[in-house]
Amino acid sequence: MADPAVPGAVADRARPQLTIAQTDLLAQRMVEHCVRAGVLPTAPEGLWEGYHRLRPLLYDAFEIPDTHLTPLAARLLYAVATIHRPQRVAVLGCYAGNLLGWVTAPGFGPTASYQGTHAVGLDVDADALVTAEGNLRRAGFGPAAVVVRADAYAAADFAHLGPWDLVLVDIDEPGARKAGYARLVERWAPNLAPGALVLAHDVRHPVFQWDLRDYAARLLDLGAEASTSLPVDVCGIEITRWGTAPTGARP
Ligand SMILES: C[S@@+](CC[C@H](N)C(=O)[O-])C[C@H]1O[C@@H](n2cnc3c(N)ncnc32)[C@H](O)[C@@H]1O
Repeated sequence: MADPAVPGAVADRARPQLTIAQTDLLAQRMVEHCVRAGVLPTAPEGLWEGYHRLRPLLYDAFEIPDTHLTPLAARLLYAVATIHRPQRVAVLGCYAGNLLGWVTAPGFGPTASYQGTHAVGLDVDADALVTAEGNLRRAGFGPAAVVVRADAYAAADFAHLGPWDLVLVDIDEPGARKAGYARLVERWAPNLAPGALVLAHDVRHPVFQWDLRDYAARLLDLGAEASTSLPVDVCGIEITRWGTAPTGARP
């Protein structure tokens, strides 16, 4: 199957495509890389059976107008949440809920493997949020997964719902595009749980290289302990693990 997340890839019939089994194996290797990089504790076997049970449910229920995620990237989001088991999740720039769906399904979705406390998707686009809400409900996500119209920089307004075990950043601002990622994480950092994961989409996209050139270094300054960037597609995902000391106790 062509990779719909890569501009032009759908028309590129000559490009060799991975089979489902090969994609599972590649995803497993990336999870193992995350363990070596210090952002995940383990790379258990058998992750992908759960992914393949979930996959048709999300594919059938979700309407995604014009953003895409490769099957490899979806596997990584699903695996990170399955292993990390975040109780409190915030997705900043959730749009119609595509990344939100994969990263929250293990704790909040129709085939959940644990019971999360709450998952909140934020976006400023009211129409996209109507689609996201419909997607979550059609797919059978529980009431603990919600979307809210809000400026993602207003982290303090959501502090009472923290501390956050996983924050995913994917805003795209008019003019600034992705340049605000580190500033946005800085707003959420005081309410990150010890050992929290911060995921960022698009860190490897050529268009955003300049915007995001210092992103990982700035997160390490803010209190992160380890970070790695995964080439899941042309967009890429950065996975950063926060320190385990309580945020207020850090020098
Ligand atoms: C690339 S899209 C996100 C795609 C989405 N994560 C998905 O799974 O398809 C970027 C989103 O960021 C939103 N956005 C831009 N600035 C924002 C802000 N300050 N606060 C919240 N959302 C914002 C836009 O409305 C847009 O929906």
